[in-house]
Amino acid sequence: MKIIMKIVAILSLALFSQLAAAACSLDVEVGDALTFSQTQLAVEKSCGNVTLNLKHTGKLAASVMGHNWVLTKDSDANDVAAKGLAAGLGNNYVPAGDTRVIAATKIIGGGQATSISFSTDSLTAGGKYLYVCTFPGHSFVMRGTLIVEA
Ligand code: CU
Repeated sequence: MKIIMKIVAILSLALFSQLAAAACSLDVEVGDALTFSQTQLAVEKSCGNVTLNLKHTGKLAASVMGHNWVLTKDSDANDVAAKGLAAGLGNNYVPAGDTRVIAATKIIGGGQATSISFSTDSLTAGGKYLYVCTFPGHSFVMRGTLIVEA
C-alpha cells in the first residue's frame, strides 16, 4: 500500500511539473485554413523566456496560405496587422521596428515550422494580449488571447 501511495505521489508530481513547464513553451499549429490550433494560450510571467513553436501542417505555399504568430497588446493588434500588410511578405507582414510588436515569427507555408523565444519582461501579469496572423486578410479571423499568469 505504501508503495502504491509513493507511485501515485511520483506520478502526480511528474504530471504537475509537465503542466508547469508547458506554460513556458507553447506549440501552435496552423494549416490550409484560417485557424490557429489554439485560441487561448497561457504563460507565466515567472517563465522569464517563452518559446513559441509554430508548425504549418498544410500543403499551400507561404505566398498563398502563409501564417505567422504576432503578439501585441490587445489594443495594438488591429493597427499592427494593418501596418504589417503594408510591410509586405518580404518583411513577414510585420512592420519593421514597431515596438508594439512583442514577439513575431516569420511567415511559414505548408510543411514548414519555426520557433521564436521572447522575454516575459514586457508582459504584465493579468494583462490582455492578442496573437494574430498578419498575412493579408487573416488577422480578423486568426487571433487568440494570451493570458499572462503571475
Ligand atoms: Cu494566416
